[in-house]
This record gives sequence, structure tokens and C-alpha cells, in this order.
Amino acid sequence: MSQASAWAILLSVFLSVSCNRPQTLDESRLRGAAQDSANWLMYGRTYDDHRFSPLSQINEQTVAKLGLAWSRELSTTRGLEATPLVEDGVLYTTGSWSVVDALDAKTGDVRWTYDPKVARERAYFICCDVVNRGVALYRGKVYLGTLDGRLIALEGRSGTPVWSAAASDSTKPYSITSAPRIAKGLVIIGNAGAEYGVRGYISAYDAESGKLSWRCYTVPGDPAQGFESKALKDAAKTWTGEWWKVGGGGTPWEGIVYDPTLDLLYFGTGNPTAWYRALRRGGDSLYTASILAVHRSNGQLAWYFQTTPGDNWDFDATQPLMQADLTIGGRVRKVIMQANKNGFFYVLDRETGKFISGTPFVSGVTWATRLDRETGRPIESPGYADFRPVIASPSPDGAHNWNPMAFSPATGLVYLAAKAGTQFVHAPDAKWKYNPDRTNLGLDPLYDGPLNARLAWLPAAKGELVAWDPVKQQAAWRANYPTVEGGGVLATAGNLVFQGRADGWLAAYRASDGTRLWRFDAGTGIIAPPVTYSVDGTQYVSVMAGWGGGAALFNAPGSGPVRPGYGRILTFKLGGTATLNPPAFGHQEPPTPVLSVSASPRVVHEGGLLFNTHCAGCHGINAVAGPLPDLRYSNRDTLERIEDTVLGGNRASLGMPSFQKILNPIEVRAIQAYIVSRARESAKAAGNQLK
Ligand code: HEC
Repeated sequence: MSQASAWAILLSVFLSVSCNRPQTLDESRLRGAAQDSANWLMYGRTYDDHRFSPLSQINEQTVAKLGLAWSRELSTTRGLEATPLVEDGVLYTTGSWSVVDALDAKTGDVRWTYDPKVARERAYFICCDVVNRGVALYRGKVYLGTLDGRLIALEGRSGTPVWSAAASDSTKPYSITSAPRIAKGLVIIGNAGAEYGVRGYISAYDAESGKLSWRCYTVPGDPAQGFESKALKDAAKTWTGEWWKVGGGGTPWEGIVYDPTLDLLYFGTGNPTAWYRALRRGGDSLYTASILAVHRSNGQLAWYFQTTPGDNWDFDATQPLMQADLTIGGRVRKVIMQANKNGFFYVLDRETGKFISGTPFVSGVTWATRLDRETGRPIESPGYADFRPVIASPSPDGAHNWNPMAFSPATGLVYLAAKAGTQFVHAPDAKWKYNPDRTNLGLDPLYDGPLNARLAWLPAAKGELVAWDPVKQQAAWRANYPTVEGGGVLATAGNLVFQGRADGWLAAYRASDGTRLWRFDAGTGIIAPPVTYSVDGTQYVSVMAGWGGGAALFNAPGSGPVRPGYGRILTFKLGGTATLNPPAFGHQEPPTPVLSVSASPRVVHEGGLLFNTHCAGCHGINAVAGPLPDLRYSNRDTLERIEDTVLGGNRASLGMPSFQKILNPIEVRAIQAYIVSRARESAKAAGNQLK
């Protein structure tokens, strides 16, 4: 051996040792995340939120051999929405009630679990299931936002808490479901709760100490107290009445991205409180239903773009935001993109906030005819914002919701879960008054008019995976599936797109043309986005399988074949041979009535309206449930003692809220009569007798 080759060997040994040693997960490593193919270090994998992995061991040729490597039950039947993060062979994910698990990414063995012990009584103030979308990793710590509004830093190796900050006022109905984001030494976190009446804001904490660095409110507060910034003073001119007494809304509950070059943070804001423009006495209600850019260093507004001025339909602009440099009209533009709930796909200049283009990405959008070509302001359809009942589309579930989308630089396409033709009876409640103890939509909870019947006749909504060309603003291809709800998306250099859906199938499609190449039955519905990583030279694909979220709990008819069940994390590799035997969940047979109550048809009918107002959000519309108990199957004791549960709160510590401040005993009896009658109807259809 020559001296030169001996040196070369020594050098390569040294290099491989130093490369394999886990590096600190600092700012430079986060900025280089695109090249760090083995890991998935942040929510959208890279700062631009592309959810694109350069890994290609699993590709369009080999994907047929993809099999289960390991799976782990997470002792929940509620929705799982998290993006697992992977750093050097350890996978960090979250489940129901903001519980964190750190697992061995290769085997699924649990390293540690951290339960922030969120009080289950808070369930009433969580609109859309007790979900969490994941953690953030930075310099050896794991950051978690909890349902009860805390931001917690954990020691990465052990899961031991290091600091905890009150990221929302715990005396108000705020919650946190989103993953914290990291931006140059700061942890950024938003909040939710606009349905209950709170004032939205986003906060930045020092990652090391947990000290609040800045807080940026999204809507103006009480003018008598003075405005926190000029931006909020300007916003106040777009409100009327005494909006601050209601909170205002505009909660930034998802979609946050950071551009380290421009040092700008972008985030979307939710609906105003209440939903109806007329109930807020008109105006654009800035900065609700908007995309905002703020300076990372101080949270001051750089620009804003309001997607739905004077929102009237719950069109949050909190969907994922994606950055890219696109050649548009012969010029490279730094853009930010969003497939908004309102049905339009927006492309904005992310340096200035200037509107570039916006087109509907689904069919059947009725609330607006188009966007103004210059300003991007929607041209509303006549009559849709009048203060009278109307069937509007998209529904408040949106043409696309929080489910992350992916972008492949190879195809230039954005892949997303779209919902076409979701319809909604939009009936205003002229008598609405703000009440801090209940939801504050401003919808007429007891609307019982002809539109309900008309809605039942309209064509059912459909879900589709859309490959969207953001330059041409048109679909390159669409893949239909039998359910409305589709999960988040992953794109890879293997020319693949992975997506799960409500009926429990996880599928891989060819990214360039949408041909389905592989699928796996996960046994329970999927809404979360898959991720991919590699350990010791093997590529893995991982996804949280757990049917839940707002749409699942509401369980609207026409949602297609949905699969509630036991939540788990599933991990695949080429040649994986592990098997899955998901235990049966729910009721396979129709109910057998156990109780007879004598109530007039009018009482039953009123009980039904009350049920669909107060209970359907968790126990399913018309008492046909998804993940939570189907009350048509309740046993005699449960039904007889329904008041103890609904008013007495005897199951509050299990997440069944007390309605003491909302319902009276007569109303609960009417609900009971309705549940009994629904059980009898379902039983009769199947020939089951009263037991
Ligand atoms: C925020 C979600 C939520 C809402 C809203 C809600 N529930 Fe529940 N409910 C639950 C959960 C979770 C459970 C299961 C608790 C457990 O594990 O026993 C439950 C259980 C129950 C049970 C016991 C079922 C059984 O067989 O064990 C009854 C009865 C019930 N709810 C009635 C109602 C009624 C009536 C309403 C409307 C007034 C309502 N719930 C609204 C979450 C909710």
C-alpha cells in the first residue's frame, strides 16, 4: 500500500465517522434540509414546505415490492393528523390529546412518551377533534403545542420537560393543534378557537429560554385600549360595531412557513367571529381569512393578502402555504401558494404580497364567480352574502383543508387532497348573541326549512388527488377515490406521490401521470400526510393512520366509505413482510332498541334539531357516529341516565363535555327521545325488536 492510499483510507474513515456522528440540529442544518435525504427535520421537510424527498430507493419500478416494516398501536380511536419528524434514526410524532411519542425509526420501539395531561373537560372548546399535527425539533429539544394552549419544550433524548409557556390565555377557549415552527432561534406558534370567540395571535418564543420574544395579533382589540400597531389601527377601520367584545377571531391555527432569505414568516388566519358578515355589521374584517407576512425579528406586518374579504362562509386561509421560485411570464418569481378552503388556488409574490393568479381547483364553486385579475379580490355571486338561507359551496370543511400538499421540482406540480362539490345549508341566526360558553357561528341552529330537503337531492361531494400546475393554473391530472376526505400528500424523487384516505387505503401514484402503482389497506381511515426517511441505507415510508378530525366526527351522509378504528403508525420498506390485523371497530349490526319513551313526534323532531346542533359535531349528524360512541347503540342504563352525562358531566374526564350551561333537562329529554327514535328507525329497517 502506498503512503498516499493509506492516507486516503484514513481520510475516508475520518470523514465517514464525522459524517455519521449526529450533528446538532441548528439553523444551518435546517436550511440544508433539502439535501439531508435521510431525515425529515421539519413539518414540511424543508422551509419551503415542499414535502418532497430526494430518496428514490422506493420508486415507480420498485414500489410494487413495498411492504409493512412495522406498525405500532397508539391507544386511540380519535383522529391522527401528525407529520412524524425523523432525526438520525429517531422518529417523533404526536397523537390524541397532544401526547408525544419518540420511536426507533427502524423498529418502532418506543424510546419515550410524554403526556402533557390536557384536562379532558376542555373537549367542548375544541371544534374538530382532539388532534395535534406534530412537533418541531431544534438544538436537541422537541417542541409541542398542547390542546390547552401551552407551548412545551422537551429534552430530546428523554422527553423530560425543560420549559413550558402559556401560549394562549387559558381562561379563554383557545386551543393549539398545529405543530410549532422554528425560525432562527425562535419557536413560532399560533392558536385556534375563532368558533368560540377569541382574538387570534401568533407568538414567537426564544427556543432556548422559552421567553416570549413577540406576539402579533391578527385582529384589532378594543380601540379604547389603543392599538398595538399601525397595522391593527388600519385593520380597525374594516370592522364595525363592538367586535372586540366577541374576540374577533382570525386565529392562525395551521399554515405557517418561514423564508430564511427574506427573513419573513408567512401564516394564514381563520374566520372572523361570528361567521356571518351581517352579524358583524359588514366590512372586510381584517386580517381574518388572510395570508400575512411578518418580519421574523419583531412580528411587524410586511404585507397581507385577504383571500376572503368579509368572510361569510368560514373560509379560513389557514391551509398549508408553500414557497417556490417559478418562472411566470418569462420571469422568475418568488411565490407563495395556497389551495384555499374557498376553492381557489392562489399564487402570490412572496416579497410583496402582490396577487399573481388564482383559479378554482375544484368544480362546483358557487360563492364567487372568479377573482379580480388585478387585485385577486373575489367577485361574489349575487345573493350569496345576503342575510337569508342559501346553499353554498364549498362547505365550511373547504375545497381543501389543513391536509398538507406536496410539490415535486421534477414535475413542477403541486399535489393536494381536494374536495369538489361540498355543499352546505347556510342559514343565518338573526337572534345570535355572543355567548362565551358555547360555539358562536351565528348559524341558525334550528333551521328547518326547504333547503335541507333540497340539499339531500344535490349530487354528492367527491374527493380527488389533484396534480396542479401552479404556473398554468390548471390540473395536470386528477385521481378520484370513493371517499370525500383524502389525506396529506408526500412526493418523492422516485416519481411517486403517496396519499392515504378516509376508507383506509394508502396509495402510491406515478407523479407524472397519476397512475396508481401500489396500495395498502391500513384498516382505518387516513388523514395525515406520509413522510419518508432512511436509516442504514434503507428507505422507509411512514404514516399516522387514524380516522378523525371535524369531518369524521360529524360523519355527513355522502362522505363515502369511511373507516373509524384504532389509530396506529405504519412504516413501510421494500420487501417488508410485517402483517396487520386491525381489531374490528364499531358496530357491524344494526342497533336493537333498549328503551321506549313516549314522546310526541314534535318533541322527537325538536330533539333532533337540538342533537344536530349540540351533539352531532362529535356523535355524528342524525346520530350516525364515526369514531365516537354511536348513541343509537347506548345501553338502557346509559340512556336512562343521560342527564347525568349531559348535564351532570359524569363522563367529562373522558372527553364528554357537560352541557350544564347550555341545555336544560327538558331539552335533554327531547334529545333522549330523538336518540331512542333513531335507534328504533334503524332497528325497524333491519327487523330488530325492542329488547
Ligand atoms: C366534544 C365532543 C362531544 C360532544 C359535543 C358530545 N359528546 Fe357525548 N361523548 C363524547 C365522548 C368523547 C364520549 C365517550 C366518553 C367515554 O369514553 O365514555 C361521549 C359519550 C357520550 C355518552 C355515553 C355513550 C356510551 O354509550 O357510553 C352519551 C349518552 C353522550 N355522549 C351524549 C351526548 C349528547 C346527548 C350530546 C349533545 C348534547 C353529546 N354527547 C355531545 C364527546 C362528545
